[in-house]
Amino acid sequence: MAEQILVTGGAGYIGSHVVVALHEAGYTPVIFDNFNNARRDVPVRLAQIMGTAPSVIEGDIRDSACLDQAFQEHEVGGVIHLAAHKAVGESVAKPLAYFDNNVGGFLNLLGAMERAGCKRLVFSSSATVYGEPDETPTPETAPRRAMNPYGRTKIICEEMLQDLCTADPEWAVGVLRYFNPAGAHGSALIGEDPADIPNNLMPYIAKVATGALAKISVFGNDYDTPDGTGVRDYIHVEDLAEGHVLSLAQLRQGNGHLVNLGTGRGYSVLEMIAAYQRATNRQLPYEIVARREGDVPIYCAKTEKARDLLGFEAKRGLDEMCASSWAWMQAQERGND
Ligand code: UFG
Repeated sequence: MAEQILVTGGAGYIGSHVVVALHEAGYTPVIFDNFNNARRDVPVRLAQIMGTAPSVIEGDIRDSACLDQAFQEHEVGGVIHLAAHKAVGESVAKPLAYFDNNVGGFLNLLGAMERAGCKRLVFSSSATVYGEPDETPTPETAPRRAMNPYGRTKIICEEMLQDLCTADPEWAVGVLRYFNPAGAHGSALIGEDPADIPNNLMPYIAKVATGALAKISVFGNDYDTPDGTGVRDYIHVEDLAEGHVLSLAQLRQGNGHLVNLGTGRGYSVLEMIAAYQRATNRQLPYEIVARREGDVPIYCAKTEKARDLLGFEAKRGLDEMCASSWAWMQAQERGND
């Protein structure tokens, strides 16, 4: 039987795409998710894409008994850990909830892995650990600086993993620092689906395109960037998902790593709006408003390390991100069932 990989947060936006990529690479993904921030119908949609239903464990990473049971029921060869809160603003308002889930839950997961003798882990980190970087494109060697509790939880988890790997060399850990995931699966069956008003740019633009929201607020046009608006390194979620498979392959050879996953190319907010307009053939109204507190001018990944250590290279461009996002949004509008 194919190796089973436990994917915490496997029903979420990134998780669901990782599950598909694992399946395509010949692994058997096992979803572990509490469905707090995931749609209930994701497993059914995954079954449609993969032609086989994934195993699903409804559970919370803060529940040790549930994790232990998962490891007893499945012979897990590795874990991809994606179950975490990720909204910067919310983390400022509710820091304890962030430490509880992102740090406490993670500690719990590591304990359960140790008890089960499973010491292979891909950890979802973030470009946010760079704070306001001195250098762009930003290399993995850049200092870590937290700008908010969310970022602090990612730094703490990275440090926990460093200490763990020093103490016990049997652990094989891949730390993946994501830049800005965007787009949806080519099938239009899974994608990003924020329940409320989106915090992030791409889903916000998408909802303006459908007419669900009136206009995009561009948070500042006085940054030191070519057009004054914030620049980010958007990476297609299917490319990002494939990065996890490459990471696992290295871990199976005992090669731990810490790498950026981005494209190395940044786009401004206005470029993103223009690209989405091209994909939809619709005019998307926007207005320039004040900067959002805590935002940095530019995030852009230095990508050589991921290329050299994992063989990772993002294959899909901005137009594909926008087109797939739009196809997903339209499928939602049609009810897609
Ligand atoms: N922006 C707008 N209007 C919006 C939303 C965003 O102008 O309505 C701008 C932001 O100011 C920023 C850019 O669009 O310049 C991207 O903002 P996002 O909120 O989409 O993404 P962030 O870069 O702020 O944050 C995301 C994730 C974090 C992660 C970070 C790493 O939400 O978890 O990427 O780059 F840490």
